[in-house]
Amino acid sequence: MLRADALLSRFGYCSRREAAAWLRAGRVLLDQSPVTSPSAKVDPARVLVDGQPVPFVHGIFAALHKPLGYTCSHTSENGSPTIYELLPAQWESRTPAVQSIGRLDKETSGLLLLSDDGALVHALTSPKRHIEKVYEYRTASPVPSEAAALFAAGSLTLNGEKSPCLPATLEPDASDPCHGLLRLHEGRYHQVRRMLAAVGAPVVELTRVAIGPLQLASLSLKPGEWIPINPQRFTDVS
Ligand code: URA
Repeated sequence: MLRADALLSRFGYCSRREAAAWLRAGRVLLDQSPVTSPSAKVDPARVLVDGQPVPFVHGIFAALHKPLGYTCSHTSENGSPTIYELLPAQWESRTPAVQSIGRLDKETSGLLLLSDDGALVHALTSPKRHIEKVYEYRTASPVPSEAAALFAAGSLTLNGEKSPCLPATLEPDASDPCHGLLRLHEGRYHQVRRMLAAVGAPVVELTRVAIGPLQLASLSLKPGEWIPINPQRFTDVS
């Protein structure tokens, strides 16, 4: 149960100060009756605001197909569009606001998870969980055949880093040495680009195609589209 004014601000309708006017105007109904007092305790799941149920009343967990050219920041950098422009505007006004679970570079496309649940974000980004992330790459020059063993051994230390990368699995295409999959169990800054650059094969295209049990291909999302996901799909995933 929440105070009516707290509900309106928590779910991104208006500020707590503005809530009294929303309530006076009869915009909030509980079991068909207007809730007029800001301090009235209400169950968000039983409330209608402007005739509609409160969306994502139990919190947001969603998958987005991030398009190329979008940043994962909340504020636009150098005029670039942000992923938040692809999501319902009300999500940004909720408290807590929705955030991406990890990030993809502006020039990387693919699967990105989003949530407004800080504990869930923390659990899924925790280095202890080692959730597998799979990237499909295209490189400007062939990836040398020794790269798979180097990555698998966990002995590659990237420039400026103190510890080596965790063991990672490289699966190059049998017919195209410039294309393949890289499976990681951690998320360092620009990790795929830096690992492949370290073996002399700069990345020219990068897409995240899976996170744990979720495959981008099976979600049928076009770039820019999102869908709600049941967080239980990530329970006990490592
Ligand atoms: N590795 C990268 O280089 N970029 C990403 O966006 C994700 C992983």
